[in-house]
Amino acid sequence: MANGGMGRLNTFKLGLFGANADGGLAVTTVPERWAARWADIQAVTQMADELGLEFFLPIARWKGFGGQTNARHHSFETLTLASALAVSTRQITVFATVHAPFVHPVFAAKAMATIDHVSGGRAGLNIVCGWNGPEFEMFGIPQSREPYAQGNEWYDVFARILAGEEVFDTPGPHYKLRAVEGRPLSLQRPRPITMSAAFSPPGRDFAARTSDFIFTTFVEISDGAATIADMRARAADHDREVGVFTACHVVCRPTQGEADDYYERFAVREADHAAVDTHMAMKMAMSGSHDAEAYARHRKRFAAGAGTYPLVGTPQHIADTLVSLHKAGFAGVALSFVDYLGELPYFASKVLPLLEEAGLRGRNDE
Ligand SMILES: Cc1cc2nc3c(=O)[nH]c(=O)nc-3n(C[C@H](O)[C@H](O)[C@H](O)COP(=O)(O)O)c2cc1C
Repeated sequence: MANGGMGRLNTFKLGLFGANADGGLAVTTVPERWAARWADIQAVTQMADELGLEFFLPIARWKGFGGQTNARHHSFETLTLASALAVSTRQITVFATVHAPFVHPVFAAKAMATIDHVSGGRAGLNIVCGWNGPEFEMFGIPQSREPYAQGNEWYDVFARILAGEEVFDTPGPHYKLRAVEGRPLSLQRPRPITMSAAFSPPGRDFAARTSDFIFTTFVEISDGAATIADMRARAADHDREVGVFTACHVVCRPTQGEADDYYERFAVREADHAAVDTHMAMKMAMSGSHDAEAYARHRKRFAAGAGTYPLVGTPQHIADTLVSLHKAGFAGVALSFVDYLGELPYFASKVLPLLEEAGLRGRNDE
């Protein structure tokens, strides 16, 4: 069975990213920052569904970043959230973002099968190997410098269960399991759609082997093309194709000046600077996605959107940037806003028609 949301025909896929956590991706003190209340998350996901966006993608976060707001202290667990959003929506793909080190693959297989049944085949799994040391300490699990060895074993257990393999043993070393089984199987065959969030070469190899999509970041659009070529080559080594998704934070306003002013306000003047420092230090320690210079040069991007790329400006500017990303080879973009519910309608009414004109998206009526 095809996945309802991600199976849509739009050339360039769009979704929401991070709306399950306070602040979304922003680390700011402005009063309108996203509070991530359940009713608002449900409402914005329903809006995205009606608008024909393809996916809802949560972040997996277990601890806040301190500072004035302790940004991300409040975040909903993503498997249970996906099940609730599944019954609230009709077509959109609902991803769960699962930490392979923290969630057992036997449990994850059953949870994902559950979401897939509840949603009628719209479940998606985003696999993360984790970033933040204090989260690993809270779980009492050492943070590996080579997380993908465990990740590959994790994926194999998960995929073998959902593929319907009868009772099997696994040799370890990470998962030494006896008489593994699980029912029901997922509706999507042989497993729900998978994505993995990573940047490094080992992370790309993991995605090449396990995932339909990689979710990754870039600093300049020109670097993006190189990432995509590299990812395609790695996927080809496994006789697979892996689509490349990325994330952008959005400030869409009628004029460039209004967008720039608001960006400067929430991501510079009223950023939660202490929390931004913590966030950047943890990311710098664990991820090779940005070099030291990029952290210094693009602090604003970390305050506004966890280092993702800015879509800041008029609808035309944003549509043009999305067209450039499409031309670079990206398959889709996960979007974040300071106030998802307040800002999505303007973005959708102004930018989506421009993307239709540009041939990136069509009508989504099925
Ligand atoms: C776009 C993107 C989104 C990510 N989202 C999360 C997340 O929600 N929670 C988390 O703990 N780690 C997240 N990660 C971290 C990755 O799962 C991975 O552990 C990290 O990037 C280090 O691996 P790498 O060097 O292969 O990139 C994300 C990474 C990327 C690139």
